Order: sequence, then structure tokens, then C-alpha cells
Amino acid sequence: MEKRVFSGIKPSGNLHLGNYIGAMKQWVKSQEDGFNIFCVVDLHAITVFQDPTELKNNSYDLAAMLLAVGIDPTKSLLFVQSHNPDHANLAWILNCYLSMGQMNRMTQYKEKSEGKDTVSVGLFDYPSLMAADILLYKTTHVPVGEDQKQHVELTRDIAERINKKYGDIFVLPQASIPKVGGRIMSLSNPAKKMSKSVDDPSGTIGLLDSLDDVKKKIMSAVTDSDNKIVYDPENKPGISNLLEIYCQVSGVEMKDAQEKFSSISYGAFKTEVFESVSLFLSEIQQKFHEKRNINDLSATLEDGAKKAYAISHPILQEMYSRIGFI
Ligand code: AMP
Ligand code: TRP
Repeated sequence: MEKRVFSGIKPSGNLHLGNYIGAMKQWVKSQEDGFNIFCVVDLHAITVFQDPTELKNNSYDLAAMLLAVGIDPTKSLLFVQSHNPDHANLAWILNCYLSMGQMNRMTQYKEKSEGKDTVSVGLFDYPSLMAADILLYKTTHVPVGEDQKQHVELTRDIAERINKKYGDIFVLPQASIPKVGGRIMSLSNPAKKMSKSVDDPSGTIGLLDSLDDVKKKIMSAVTDSDNKIVYDPENKPGISNLLEIYCQVSGVEMKDAQEKFSSISYGAFKTEVFESVSLFLSEIQQKFHEKRNINDLSATLEDGAKKAYAISHPILQEMYSRIGFI
């Protein structure tokens, strides 16, 4: 079977270097083989409240950033989830086959709902919509971070059960988790993942941050006191994270990077890390601004949604007919 890839990112805030290394960069590489489908998952974003103006801007920003980093709409499909109604329709059907017990075991839901006074039904149901995204396209591979593996397993499980009940209709997907770069850590607290969350601005390198800000953040990144530049995430999380970032943006191998930095100070090392990050960021920021044109983006996304619907709709129709809808 041809390799078919589906993945999504929520347009829910400031994109950062972790998103690039852990997701977008993998997507660009994935375009080298198979057929790839990439989605701006706005229906997933609203499982927690999104300011309407910000959601609009974030959706355009995300699409423009994906084009800037190298997603090529002539090779791959790029579209917005809410532009194809099949996603919400299949999610409803899957709801009726997923059990409360199964959904209650999802760790992302547990984490995201912890300590909240009210939680939307949508947040609970998030994995059903994600399963619909994946199954509508006969996806074989789903590039995601470690945290999303459980959702892909749930997708396999529901697909298998429906196939058993109604005859083969869905393809069973597998998660592809990057071996390196899957966890870029916060610069201010290298025990925590770099994240969109607003309470850790000094630990997060935004893809649209000014280079002055990035310099400040890298130069004040938390390290340790033994002055050796070696990759050892367990004992030297700060230095290892900077090494990882350096290798990911410059393309230099870890072994060569450690050799190159074997006899310099932490200050000089941080300057080198900043220089390679700044080279990378200035290039993608320039491309981002070229791509951030609403008319052009709308045309690209509309074309993507039409092509997506042409693939998903026959599969949804087949499901309707097997269930017994007239
Ligand atoms: P999120 O920011 O949680 O919406 O994640 C969007 C994508 O970026 C997902 O595929 C995540 O696995 C990936 N991602 C988010 N944060 C990081 C990080 N710190 N390191 C690596 N990948 C990340
Ligand atoms: N849940 C994913 C995340 O938080 C985003 C997502 C939505 C997704 N639908 C998907 C990823 C389908 C892969 C396939 O990162």
C-alpha cells in the first residue's frame, strides 16, 4: 500500500522552535515520499476557548508558516479542518462506537482537565475527532510527538472494531514518532518541554520572535556549572538541549558538534547556538512575510480543502451506507 501521511497542528498560539523541530520539520521531510496531508486543526483548537480574532490570525499564521518552512502545496495537501465538514460528521459517528471508559483513559484529557472548574465536552471528545481526521484519508502513517501516541492507538482500535462489525472500510494507521527532536526543552527550565504556554516566555523561542529577544533568551539559558559541552540529557539537560537545538537548525551531526565545542566556554557556545538559530529564523521569517497574504493563502487553502473532500467524502459515504443510513 502507498504510504499516506496525515498530521495536524492546532492554530492556538505562538508557534515555537519545539513545534518546528518536533513537527513541521518532520512533515517537510515526509514530503520526500508517499502522499502527505497536513491540516490546520481549528476544530481541535476550540476545545479550549479561543478569541475569535486571534483564532483567525493564528490560522493564517500557521498556514503561512507551514509554507515558509517548506510544505509544498503542489506535492502535499494543505487545508483547514473546518473547511471540510466530513471531519465533524465522522467524529460524531465514531462517538457512537467509542466507550466512556476508553475515553476516560486518555492521559491528555486527564492532564488538560486537571484543576479546571469546567471542561468542555469537546475536550473530552478530542480523540474521536482526531481519529476521524486520520481515518477519512486511509492514512497509513501519522507523524506526531510522543504525547499523541495514545490517540493514534485509540484510532487503530476504533478502526479495527468498525472493520470487524461492518467489513473492512478503514486502514489501520501507525504513529511515526521522531527519534530525535521529539522533545525540545524550555531554555529557562530544561526539565520542562518548550511550550506555547504564556507563563514561560523566557524559555520559549517563538518562530516569529525578534532576534534581539532570541539572543537574550539563549544567552540566559539555564545550564550547569561544570563547563563541559557534552550531550548527556539526564545529567546536563540544559547543555544537551542547546546542543540538540544547534544540531537541528544547522544540520551538523551531534558527534561533530561536541567535537567542535569541546574546548570553548559556555558563553562562546551560546553565541554559536544563537548565530545558527538566528540564521535559520531570519530566513523563515522573511519567507513567512512573503507567504502571509490572505488572498493567496485563501486560494491555496480552498484548493486544499476541495482536494481533501474529494478523498474523504467517498469514505464517509461508504460508512453511512454500511451503518444503514438511507
Ligand atoms: P502543540 O504545540 O502542543 O499544539 O503541538 C504541535 C506539534 O508540535 C505536536 O506535533 C507536538 O508534538 C510538537 N511539539 C510541541 N512542543 C514540542 C517540543 N517542546 N518539542 C518537540 N515537539 C513539540
Ligand atoms: N492532537 C494533535 C496535537 O495536539 C493535533 C492533531 C489533530 C493531529 N488531528 C490530528 C495530529 C491528526 C495527527 C493526526 O498535536
